[in-house]
Amino acid sequence: MSGNTFGTLFRITTWGESHGTALGVTIDGCPAGLLLSEPDIQKELDRRRPGQSDVTTPRKEEDRAELLSGVFSGKTTGAPISIIVKNKDADSSKYEELRNTPRPGHADFTYEQKYGIRDYRGGGRSSARETIGRVAGGAVAKKILAQHGIEILCHVTEIGGIRAKQVSIPQIRENTEKNPVRCADPDAAVEMTAMIHAAISEKDSVGGIVEVIALGVPAGIGEPVFDKLDAELAGALMSIGAVKGVEIGLGFKCANMKGSQFNDPLSIRDGKITALSNNAGGILGGISNGEPIVCRIAVKPTPSISKEQHTVDIKEMKNTTINIKGRHDPSIPPRIVPVAEAMMALVLVDQMMRGGQINPILGYGRRAIPQRALQRRNSGGEK
Ligand SMILES: Cc1cc2nc3c(=O)[nH]c(=O)nc-3n(C[C@H](O)[C@H](O)[C@H](O)COP(=O)(O)O)c2cc1C
Repeated sequence: MSGNTFGTLFRITTWGESHGTALGVTIDGCPAGLLLSEPDIQKELDRRRPGQSDVTTPRKEEDRAELLSGVFSGKTTGAPISIIVKNKDADSSKYEELRNTPRPGHADFTYEQKYGIRDYRGGGRSSARETIGRVAGGAVAKKILAQHGIEILCHVTEIGGIRAKQVSIPQIRENTEKNPVRCADPDAAVEMTAMIHAAISEKDSVGGIVEVIALGVPAGIGEPVFDKLDAELAGALMSIGAVKGVEIGLGFKCANMKGSQFNDPLSIRDGKITALSNNAGGILGGISNGEPIVCRIAVKPTPSISKEQHTVDIKEMKNTTINIKGRHDPSIPPRIVPVAEAMMALVLVDQMMRGGQINPILGYGRRAIPQRALQRRNSGGEK
């Protein structure tokens, strides 16, 4: 199975299964000298872990991160960073009936077709527990971005057709983590929570929309032509399980607009060139333009539902039905928030390294090249 590694210069490889011994990540290409400790990783994993509220899966996992390598005296050494999280609450008994009956909407059938062998306990590699490695890697990427004044925010804007009202950046910062659905509009959060409870009582699930924003990204980040920043972001976000659509800026709305409506006019303010609107979502020609980078993802309703569904018995080759047991998220958007942030962070760090805006070797140590000298060198000013 290939495809477990993401990134070019700042690379993560995630490994492990939902009901295996452990999961984790190896991060390759982290600059030396970055202050890093287990609590930095744990903070993000705590936001991802299951069992946080009655609108997420009841599986109880501490998801304790152990830093195995790449850090000495509290700082990264430039060597690969390995992080492991042990599975503690895997209950495989409820998955026995999935041995021969693929769950509609999940990856069971396609994994079976491709590999002929499948870890049916909790979805194995296709389980959302794989995202532990992404979030741990993203925690490191976020620390790097913070050194460059870049912040990533994410919030749920829609669940089961209930839409949040337009919110400001301070409202996203202030409100999102205060309710179990991670919605920055408190009134909509109450309705969304009720919607999820209604889906649970109907033995069903609901999807939604999540918005992820990068603030403080300077103009000039992104590697044309095939590796355009928007293309990499779309691929990264789409690689998260259950994501069926990605929009950048106004996204699909652009199809029904005129150029005069969609274009973001330019203007000089305080001696700086700025855009007067941000319909492009902060990216033009695959390169950041200095405005906030705004992406939205459409998240499908959780495939594992306890309502009866038609499926097949692949051993007996006959039609059958299934009522899925086990522990599942009734709605994925609230849980996807830290994962989407991680993917955005990973893309930005990798693209900034590739563009020379982050020095991949002498990052933050004593011998780090001062940022201004790096910029001079990158712009060809230093021969
Ligand atoms: C954070 C997160 C939590 C998820 N929770 C569940 C879950 O509890 N049950 C489930 O069946 N699928 C869950 N999924 C979705 C499946 O992982 C996903 O639908 C499956 O791997 C098939 O991939 P696809 O939907 O991208 O085609 C979750 C996904 C994410 C990202």
